[in-house]
Amino acid sequence: MANLLSPLTIKGTTFKNRIVVSPMCQYSSTDGFANDWHLVHLGAFATGGASLIITEAAAVSPEGRITYADLGIWNDEQIEKLKQITSFIEAQGSVAGIQLAHAGRKASHDKPWIGGKQFTSNHENGWLTVAPNALPFTEGEEAPVALDKAGIEKVKADFKSAAERALSAGFKVAEVHGAHGYLLHQFYSPLSNQRTDEYGGSFENRIRLLVEVTEVVREVWPQDYPLFVRISSTDWTEGGWTIEDSVKLAAVLKEKGVDLVDCSSGGNVPKANIPNKPGYQVEFAEKIKAQTGILTGAVGLITNALQANVIIENNKADMVLMARELLRDPHFALRAAHELQHEIAWPAQYERAQWR
Ligand SMILES: Cc1cc2nc3c(=O)[nH]c(=O)nc-3n(C[C@H](O)[C@H](O)[C@H](O)COP(=O)(O)O)c2cc1C
Repeated sequence: MANLLSPLTIKGTTFKNRIVVSPMCQYSSTDGFANDWHLVHLGAFATGGASLIITEAAAVSPEGRITYADLGIWNDEQIEKLKQITSFIEAQGSVAGIQLAHAGRKASHDKPWIGGKQFTSNHENGWLTVAPNALPFTEGEEAPVALDKAGIEKVKADFKSAAERALSAGFKVAEVHGAHGYLLHQFYSPLSNQRTDEYGGSFENRIRLLVEVTEVVREVWPQDYPLFVRISSTDWTEGGWTIEDSVKLAAVLKEKGVDLVDCSSGGNVPKANIPNKPGYQVEFAEKIKAQTGILTGAVGLITNALQANVIIENNKADMVLMARELLRDPHFALRAAHELQHEIAWPAQYERAQWR
């Protein structure tokens, strides 16, 4: 029986355990460039023993950023610093992953710690956002531009070339960000898609953009490198996207060569009824895994070793992604191994701190 510290092999990549650093925006870039903050922040998780470290949402185009300070992967100059980060992560025996993202109508915001409000397009730190329709996320916000066919093709091309750059930067896992009310989720959720062309209306039409983005990324992402997709498993809203839709979507993604579905939820409407309790999204990972056979990742309010271990032992998910607890304790995996009485390799430099 697998547990939290068991290795997992997906295609040609072996992860030394099931503890994954969930993507976390740092809003600390200038013009999309990674810098020493990202090296130290992500590097700490590698010294702390997590098997897979996924960067924050890296924008595939400048207009796809949530804020002007987001990480980006839309030009070749951005590769060099990322390369330094991936080689440090690998040197610790961890795997480096990148989340490829486009924020759609939820772009053009200020940093959250400065209030996080959306800038209008005429503000020096703002721009005109794009979406399935000219419908803002929140009433009163400037309406986005509805993407036309050429705009949709550009989004696909941007994801594809971002994946190529990610490969050059040394990442071994790519995760397409299809969750949290960002562009791809805006398309597949009936709450934000009122299009009447082949990208709107039926389930097949609404998932089309996510599926096509996945296909173009898979085309350039080596077959033996894992490809993940993060989805919002439910909109938590009457008339919205449901877990049953997610099961159907996951089956399609599996056919398209996606290796793991990272099961998050929500984010597409300002007021959703989200039951924020420990492990509240695990049931989605469990259902999608059981009904489609695809590997899944569980995420959301998973904060301790026992809780995380039970998820893997009970076969509810294949990996556990953690965000806030890892910010509190980047060395969580070392601690978890101790608490679960498992051997884990420590960085030689830290060996004297082992619990004995
Ligand atoms: C500081 C911070 C930044 C985040 N940025 C992202 C992001 O870039 N992409 C994403 O998919 N989720 C993002 N999230 C969501 C987390 O990846 C995770 O799904 C969520 O926090 C729930 O996990 P937790 O309870 O372990 O924190 C962010 C969360 C935090 C706390």
